[in-house]
Amino acid sequence: MIDLHNHIIPAVDDGARSAEESLEILKHYVESGFSAICATSHIRSALFDNDEENIRRHAPIVEEIIKREGLPLAFRYGAEYYYDDSLLEKLDNPKDLLTLDPEGRYLLVEFDYKIAPPHLKEFVFKLGLKGLRMVMAHPERYRYIYKDFDFAEELIAMGVIMQGTLGSLMGEMGSRPRKHFKEMLKADLFQIISTDCHRMPSCKKMLFEGIEIVKKEVGTEKSLELLQTTPALIYKGQPF
Ligand SMILES: [Fe+2]
Repeated sequence: MIDLHNHIIPAVDDGARSAEESLEILKHYVESGFSAICATSHIRSALFDNDEENIRRHAPIVEEIIKREGLPLAFRYGAEYYYDDSLLEKLDNPKDLLTLDPEGRYLLVEFDYKIAPPHLKEFVFKLGLKGLRMVMAHPERYRYIYKDFDFAEELIAMGVIMQGTLGSLMGEMGSRPRKHFKEMLKADLFQIISTDCHRMPSCKKMLFEGIEIVKKEVGTEKSLELLQTTPALIYKGQPF
């Protein structure tokens, strides 16, 4: 499997607190059957003192752990961008953005949970003009998505990739996102599932229990598509 949403880089956001904690999580990735992960630290100006340069500076910590421990895990890093004015400004120089893939194609974006972002469709369209496709982080948490599956379908038709997250499924954000995750999964509205793993011990829980729940809900074949086949295309930067 391949994980396209986690906060494994230590001490840059609200994810792993130390290199030791990153190592513990990395071992759980390997044990639970992951072969590659893309770290997606938060870039959200009002909340985290973090930017592309800081992520580039800290990512080698994880690379060094993997090498030192000889872990069979491929690693790269992107970012989880919050949709705000500073992200819109960055679209002027799309090459500076940290994408999920080496080709600069897939951008992970999160949104306000309650208020529908203004001009969302225009944003998706604008990304397309820059050669970027949006991966929408945890749509199951957004009121304007889980209450309006037609809107979700419209975004998917525009090329948006819906990324369900195991953090929601495991109840980390309360019982409602868990319910909405299951409803969206049942309605076949996710193109991929990732973890949104932040810290121990919850990362371990989602990597083992969370994956099993997904398999039980949709069967082995569909869960492989959501957790492996499609994430692999994104990780490599292949169009689909
Ligand atoms: Fe996240």
